Amino acid sequence: MKRRGKAMKEIPAHLLPTDADVGQYRGNGFWVSKPLFSADEIAVLRERHGAVIAGDYATSRPPYDRNIEPGAAIKALVKIDNSFWCDSTIARHLINPVIGAIAAKLVGVRGIRLWHDQLLHKPPDTGAPGNVGWHQDHHYWQCAQPAELLTAWLALDDATSANGCMQMVPGSHNWGLLDASDFFEQDMEKLRDRMAAAAGREFAPVCVPVPAGAVSFHHCLTIHGSGPNKTDKARRAWAIHLMPDGTRYKAGTPADPHMNVRLLGGLDGDAFTGPWFPLLYSENPPGNAWETAG
Ligand SMILES: [Fe+2]
Repeated sequence: MKRRGKAMKEIPAHLLPTDADVGQYRGNGFWVSKPLFSADEIAVLRERHGAVIAGDYATSRPPYDRNIEPGAAIKALVKIDNSFWCDSTIARHLINPVIGAIAAKLVGVRGIRLWHDQLLHKPPDTGAPGNVGWHQDHHYWQCAQPAELLTAWLALDDATSANGCMQMVPGSHNWGLLDASDFFEQDMEKLRDRMAAAAGREFAPVCVPVPAGAVSFHHCLTIHGSGPNKTDKARRAWAIHLMPDGTRYKAGTPADPHMNVRLLGGLDGDAFTGPWFPLLYSENPPGNAWETAG
């Protein structure tokens, strides 16, 4: 599962963020790429996405976790962790040097590894709760330090305000970690009040539409959430959670035991490295002991 990163010169320059784009990411805490995947690639990914939900695992290996049994009727948000274990085609597309190079430039680091992936399927409005409550991802990832992790969110369908695209709070990644996140809370207004109180300021989320094949990137402290899918079609995506190479385990946080700590062995200060956390991209020379330590 190990994959060596590519040098920046091998990445198509027109896909990389400009300095203005980097400024936007660092100022707002999020940024949306150009389309990175072709229509053919998206068609393949949609097919493999459906296969994993159905429990058809090409590698015969199940994901780390899933919130719906294969074959069950989809009535709420489907969330499957580490779907890349299930399918080499998925792994090849998600452990992607272009995504890694973009993330490295946005953050300003030399290497990017996968933290984990989440397959997401937001069904058409079924009358069941369909919100994702306001949260900061690092609330759930406090065991990984420093807090420079980020998410590359790959849209398989056009994500719009009608089908529940993500909403983000510009600049909130600079407010520190607020003790108010709740991914599962359905009362968005109540939770917004709670987060505003924790932040000591009111805030106004903005919708972040993402066309199919493009990728939005957001900082792990950016407040975000989403509303229900009010259309008659599913909104499918992958959240590709990423970390700078060299991100380390911090023991004793409220995020313990995170699933990734179970993969690590769990000694305070351990680097998240090795085949569970594949390298998407590295500017370090081949053979560098740092790069091959995993
Ligand atoms: Fe999130």
